[in-house]
This record gives sequence, structure tokens and C-alpha cells, in this order.
Amino acid sequence: MKLLICFGTRPEAIKMAPICLELNKRQIAFKLCVTAQHREMLDQVLDFFQLVPDYDLDLMQPNQSLNMLSSRILYEMDAILKKEQFDLVLVHGDTTTSTLVALAAFHGNYKVAHVEAGLRTYDKTSPFPEELNRQITGRISDFHFAPTQKAKNNLLKENVYESNVIVTGNTVIDSLNITLKKIEHGYNNAFIESLNETINFNKRVILVTGHRRESFGAGFENVCEAILEISKIYEVEIVFPVHLNPNVQRVVYEKLSSIKNIHLIAPLDYPSFVWLMNKAVLIISDSGGIQEEAPSLNIPVLVTRETTEREEGITSGCSILVGTNTTKIIHEAYRILTTHKGNDKMTNPYGEGLAAIKIVDFIQNNILINE
Ligand code: UD1
Ligand code: UDP
Repeated sequence: MKLLICFGTRPEAIKMAPICLELNKRQIAFKLCVTAQHREMLDQVLDFFQLVPDYDLDLMQPNQSLNMLSSRILYEMDAILKKEQFDLVLVHGDTTTSTLVALAAFHGNYKVAHVEAGLRTYDKTSPFPEELNRQITGRISDFHFAPTQKAKNNLLKENVYESNVIVTGNTVIDSLNITLKKIEHGYNNAFIESLNETINFNKRVILVTGHRRESFGAGFENVCEAILEISKIYEVEIVFPVHLNPNVQRVVYEKLSSIKNIHLIAPLDYPSFVWLMNKAVLIISDSGGIQEEAPSLNIPVLVTRETTEREEGITSGCSILVGTNTTKIIHEAYRILTTHKGNDKMTNPYGEGLAAIKIVDFIQNNILINE
């Protein structure tokens, strides 16, 4: 049995790392291929989890178009899939990497397993292009690891065979638990030391991130307006690790530079980000992964998107969908900052951190066994 695990961006690496670690623990061999759709942001995660790719396609180029990236992934994957035979290719989520690798594998007649399967908004403009990416990956895949029952139900509505859908929880919680344990045991690094020096942790900390393509332009400007206003009204420290996408960098640095209590910093390596999240009282973000992680740390998230496929967080009260409406963001931030005494206890609807075990169990018991 030969397994190929493929990913390319920071969140995919964070969410696939626990599966790689679990395979290593059980001494099940696999090959790791990174497209490197992201570079610095991916390498930070590979370093932390000590993952060394067998293939590194090194595809990141500054501000490259989706079509250019897509064609380069297909081209490069074709060569790898011709060079080596695999019995199963694992991809993750909804990025250009996951969809184009799945398509390349399908063209090569390989079986595909989709991790974080079944998330849907059914609006192909939001998130763009991720909604269509994950629908296409879902159509291609033979096995579907769904993080929640809701995600499984979406797949069943699309006539996917029930026996091929496995509800596992989200592997992001596995990663979070691994990382929190390391921090508890004294993990430290230069980023954490520098945060300790520059941020006044006696004040309440608001953590901000953003990167969604459908918000480029007016949407991002509105969010920045809200952040600016919040920084003026409250005695808070606002920390904003700015995504490396130039379309994000441009607006954020233009609108929010040189404000005393707004700290614009480079994307943090994963353990430092977890360390910082743990100190926040509120997160304002359009990130998928952060919506899933924050409930484990009892931190409310204002989701700066018009739609979310992570509805479980909204219905359980862990996160609030605010869109990119300046007034709404300010209003909800006010509500949380004035009514929350501490971080109220939350139950995380995305699992307890056992997803990688369930995924590897399935592979071992249903796929390896047939070899
Ligand atoms: C991608 C994914 C998105 C995911 C996000 C996580 C797609 C279409 N989008 O969006 O689903 O939520 O990653 O962060 O797959 N860059 C760097 N260094 C890096 C990473 C990015 O400089 O390490 C810059 C480059 O100029 C690059 C640009 O950001 O061209 C955009 O990267 P890309 O992967 O195309 O899209 P993201 O917006 O990061
Ligand atoms: N993250 C990180 N450093 C940062 C910001 C986020 O390591 O500066 C982590 C975060 O903990 C989460 C993941 O990156 O696990 C989310 O990535 P992103 O928001 O880029 O993508 P999405 O989850 O929206 O696809």
C-alpha cells in the first residue's frame, strides 16, 4: 500500500500534520508532497511539526493568478503520479492545491480521500473560489472524512455513499492540543519573546486576521475602519498578523499603520499564534481554521464574512457572523467587551482532537487491509 499526502498552504499543513504524525507513530509508510502554494507560511508549519516533504513543487509566485497556479499544479503532479504508483492520495479542504491535486489523481486513475469533506455554503461566490473547489474535490473523492454530522449530511444530500463518509471531528483540534501541550511544557521561541516585549498583556487583547478574496477592496476597507474605531474607543491592544497576500498587505498597512494600540506584525508561526490566541478576549477574523480553534480556548470570534460553512460555531454561540459591515463589527465588539467577564466556557462543535486517529483507523482497517 502506498499513500500520498498532498497539501500546499498553511492551514492545510496544520490540519494534515496530525495525520502524518499518526501514520509515523503506527509506522505506516507514506510519501509527502507539498505544492508550496504558500512558501514562508507553509515552511513555518513543516518546521514545527518536523515534516520533511519527499516532493516539494515550490510553486509559490508573488500574486500569481488562480489559473496559472492551477495549471502548474496539474503539470507538476502529472510527473509525480507517473513516476510512482500510489493506492490512495489524501488531500485537504478547499484550496487550489486540494482540487487540482485531486483532479490530477483522478486523471491518473488513483483513489482519492478528502479530509475536511462536506463543508458547504452552496454559494459559489462566497467563499471564492473555495466553495466550488470543495464541491469539485468532493465529486472526485472516493472517501470523505467529514468533520461534523452536518458536513456528512451535506454529502449524503449529494448522493455520496454513506459507507464512504466518516465523521471524525476536525484535525485542527488535534494540532491545537499537540501545540497547547508543548506550550504548557514550556515551549518558547523568538516570536513569543518579542510579543511579550511589545504587547501590553495587562490590557485586553483583540486578535485580528483576514485574507478572503471575496472581501478584497471595499470589504477589507470596512473591516479596517471598524478596527480603527475599536482601537480609539477601548483600552485594548489589537494584534494583527497580516497575511502575506499583497492584496491584504496593501489595505491593512495603508489604513492601520502607526496607531499606538494596533500592532501590525508578520504572520506568526503556528505555536506563537496559538500562544497569542490563548491570551485574547476576542478574535475578529474571516479564517476558517480560527473559527474552529477558538471555541477550544473559549474565545468568541466575530466572523467577517457574509456566509460561513462553519455554521456549527454560529448556532452554538461560539462565533457571530458580522460580514464586513463596519457598524455591525463595532456593535458586536462592544457587546462582547462590555458583557463578557472572562472567557465563558464553550463546547467545541468541531471535536475533541481525535480526528487523526479516526482517519488513520479507517485507512488501516478498510484500505490497507485489502492489500
Ligand atoms: C490560500 C487559499 C485559501 C486559504 C488561504 C490560507 C486558494 C484559492 N486560496 O489563499 O483557501 O484559506 O490560502 O491562508 O487556494 N504569499 C506569500 N507567502 C506565503 C503565502 C502567500 O508571499 O507564504 C503571497 C504570494 O504573493 C501569493 C499570494 O500571497 O501569490 C496569494 O497566495 P494564494 O495561495 O494564491 O492565496 P491565499 O490568499 O493565500
Ligand atoms: N495561523 C498561524 N499564524 C497566523 C495566523 C493564523 O499559524 O499568523 C493559523 C491558525 O491558528 C489556523 C490557520 O493558521 O490554524 C488558519 O489559516 P488561514 O486563516 O490562513 O486559513 P483558513 O483557515 O481560512 O483556510
